[in-house]
Order: sequence, then C-alpha cells, then structure tokens
Amino acid sequence: MQPEAHVSDVILRDAEAGDLDALVALSRKTFTDKFGHLYKPEDLSAFLDAEHGHDVYRTALATPGTLVRVGKTGDGALGAYLVCGPLTLPAEAAEPGAVELKRLYVDQPLQGRGLGTRLMEEAFAWAHAQNAPEMYLSVFSENDGARRLYERYGFEKIGEFLFPVGNHRDLEFLMRKPLCPGAPSGVLSSALSRCTVSCTAGAEIARPASGRRF
Ligand SMILES: CC(C)(COP(=O)(O)OP(=O)(O)OC[C@H]1O[C@@H](n2cnc3c(N)ncnc32)[C@H](O)[C@@H]1OP(=O)(O)O)[C@@H](O)C(=O)NCCC(=O)NCCS
Repeated sequence: MQPEAHVSDVILRDAEAGDLDALVALSRKTFTDKFGHLYKPEDLSAFLDAEHGHDVYRTALATPGTLVRVGKTGDGALGAYLVCGPLTLPAEAAEPGAVELKRLYVDQPLQGRGLGTRLMEEAFAWAHAQNAPEMYLSVFSENDGARRLYERYGFEKIGEFLFPVGNHRDLEFLMRKPLCPGAPSGVLSSALSRCTVSCTAGAEIARPASGRRF
C-alpha cells in the first residue's frame, strides 16, 4: 500500500473470495505489527498459521451470520478489515443471540484517522440487523488504545481469560456492550443514549458523547 494512502479514498465493502490472499496477508501483517514483539518466533508463527491462515478466512466468508468487511484503498490494496459473528468467547450468562466483534485491524499507515471508527459503526449496524441483544469482544490487557476506543462506545470489561499464542499465554480482557434488539429504526440501546441519532441500515449509528473528531 502507498504510504500516502488517503483514508477518504478507502471504500468499505463485504470481503469476497477474490480477497482471500490479500486478507490473509493483511491480517498477518497487522497482528504482527502490533503484537509480534511480544512472542517467541515459534509461538508467533504457530499462532498465525492456526488463526490467520486461508482456512480461517475461507470459513468465515462461507459461514452464514458472519460479517467480513474490508477497506480497499485508492491503489487497490486492502488497508483494514473487520470480522463479526456469533459469540464464541468464554462469556458466561451471555444472552441467546449475542454476537462478537472478532477482529478489527487497520494497517499502520492508515491508523488514527477514523477508519476503525467507521468499521465499529458498521459492526453495530450489522449487530442491529441481527437483532442481537449484546455484543462481546476481547482485547489484550495492555492494548490501551483499542480498549479506549471500545470503552468510548460503551463496552465494559466483565472478565479476563488467558489467550493462547502458540505456547505463550496473554492476559485478555472480556468486554460486553448491551444493544437494543428490535428497537424501531431510529432508537438504539440506552447504553448508546449518550448521543444517539436515527438509525437505518448504513446510516451513522452513534458517536461517543465527546463529539470527537471521528
Ligand atoms: C484499534 C484500531 C482498529 C483503531 O482504528 P483507527 O482507525 O486507528 O482508529 P480511529 O482513528 O477510528 O480512532 C482513534 C482511536 O483508536 C485507538 N487507536 C488508535 N491507534 C491505535 C493503535 N495503534 N493501537 C490501538 N488502538 C489505537 C485509540 O483509542 C484512538 O483514540 P485516542 O484518540 O484515544 O488515541 C487500529 O488502530 C488498529 O488496527 N490498531 C492496531 C491493532 C489493534 O490494536 N486492533 C484491535 C485489537 S483488539
């Protein structure tokens, strides 16, 4: 991807079978850029092969009830991706129909310019369309930036667990956000009530009360 790629040129769309190689490459690169320094090479490569390989994304693309969105930059490269689907995290007492924001990654040259936020809002629009009562995600305990973003959207930490990366174990935070299933378009969960706007598919969902630059 060109270092001067512009976020405004990034088009968000559903991932297609033809994106598989680029999606696998982006997912391995963005995980390694952010977390690679934490692991022994053998643990990192075992993890990337198990969790960021062609089979994982081929399955995600073929599984009903799974959202895989990509951000395509002006020069045709993939610069960001989002995966959402049915809950698989170790969340006790999760409500039936709970969903999970499984992966949210933006390539380094594009970070900090609102792309992650656009994908977060797409995740909420998708969850709303699924009539999901709540959304879960997990975040590495030392990933303060991502946790800050999630907390701004009303996610709250409800637990911890050990996340395997090869033979290494990371302390992971489990976060939850109540949603408002069946709410008539235009009204979202009270948890978003800090600043909600009318909601129809694709329209803006919510902004943290800070009114930040997103
Ligand atoms: C987290 C991430 C998806 C956010 O997307 P983005 O386009 O950079 O974010 P936006 O510009 O929409 O929002 C900015 C917020 O994102 C978070 N953020 C920005 N850069 C980040 C980074 N390198 N790592 C983690 N979080 C980051 C911060 O909360 C920031 O707000 P701040 O003003 O409080 O610092 C993106 O930064 C990223 O891919 N980071 C590295 C991988 C990662 O941590 N993924 C999430 C794993 S749970």
